[in-house]
Amino acid sequence: MTKFQERIFSGVQPTGTLHLGNYLGAIKNFVELQEKYNCIYCVVDQHAITVDQNPQELRSNILEVLASFIAAGVDYQKQIIFQQSSVPAHSQLAWVFNCVSRIGWLNRMTQFKDKAGKNKENVSVGLMVYPNLMAADILAYLATHVPVGDDQKQHLELSRDIAQKFNNDFGVDFFPQPEPLIYGSATRVMSLRDGNKKMSKSDPSDFSRILLTDDDETISAKIRKAKSDSELIPNTKDALQNKPECLNLINILAATTNQSVEQVLGNYAGKEYSSLKKDLADCLVQVISPIRKEINNLLDNRDELNVILAEGTEKAAAIANPVIEEVYRIVGFK
Ligand code: TYM
Repeated sequence: MTKFQERIFSGVQPTGTLHLGNYLGAIKNFVELQEKYNCIYCVVDQHAITVDQNPQELRSNILEVLASFIAAGVDYQKQIIFQQSSVPAHSQLAWVFNCVSRIGWLNRMTQFKDKAGKNKENVSVGLMVYPNLMAADILAYLATHVPVGDDQKQHLELSRDIAQKFNNDFGVDFFPQPEPLIYGSATRVMSLRDGNKKMSKSDPSDFSRILLTDDDETISAKIRKAKSDSELIPNTKDALQNKPECLNLINILAATTNQSVEQVLGNYAGKEYSSLKKDLADCLVQVISPIRKEINNLLDNRDELNVILAEGTEKAAAIANPVIEEVYRIVGFK
């Protein structure tokens, strides 16, 4: 039994229109979790500027991510949704964590290595300390559970290390050890063009990803053109080991229809991929089409979205401010 009240926190960057990976890996789970838990979902704009952003696009993307949360089913009246930069506790705690976290830990972050590439000396300092800010996001709310896709696992481990080191350094039991919640059949949705690359907002090919704003015809065309195989669908997952694009389509269908991969294989073994693709396209249209329409409705009324953000800020700050007060006392600022 832990002394910490169970609380969910997660964040999404406003760096472009959200895609199926964001939806199946994270946002679909955000919606399910709100049945059981108190949840805080954040549009993490401070993370977005760790790489160059166009201010006008950023402003618009913040509202689009907010609209996507609501359109997907996040209940903004019962839960908290808000914008990271509007609650100063995130930056305040991030600074303390910059002084707790170790450079060696950050140097091991694979996402930093991937994003920095050969350009390590010339990327922003923000990109390097990004995981410290992420730990601050979670721990400013003493959150205990964090629903994310598989790509955030290492960052979550770092958050746990930071929480533990802070507690040890100051001889307190103040921060919980946040648990990652990585579940479902699509914790890592891959590109529709290359099954070894994850589906991402930054892939140059539009056909690599399905967006939550794609129209029905575009969704069907992207699935029709997705890379697959001329052989028939096998009946075991093992047979798909060297066919990542095929496994990806099966994982997506399983996650979208709330079935296991084994159930999907049971239904499609011996059939051609074209028949699976047809059903997958239909399922995706059924899921995405109402979300797209609602995103567009919500974006027609930006004033209302700004009111929702302001209310979220107030509720979020009411939780985070006392945490920061206590951190300042613990470290000796007060
Ligand atoms: P971001 O904005 O890149 O992605 C948002 C969420 O979508 C998940 N995701 C995927 N899941 C499955 N397959 C994919 N191809 C895929 N692509 C993205 C991500 O895992 C994530 O859950 N660092 C985070 C944002 C963040 C955060 C936080 C998350 C900032 N502070 C605190 C949790 C807690 C990020 O860049 O997510």
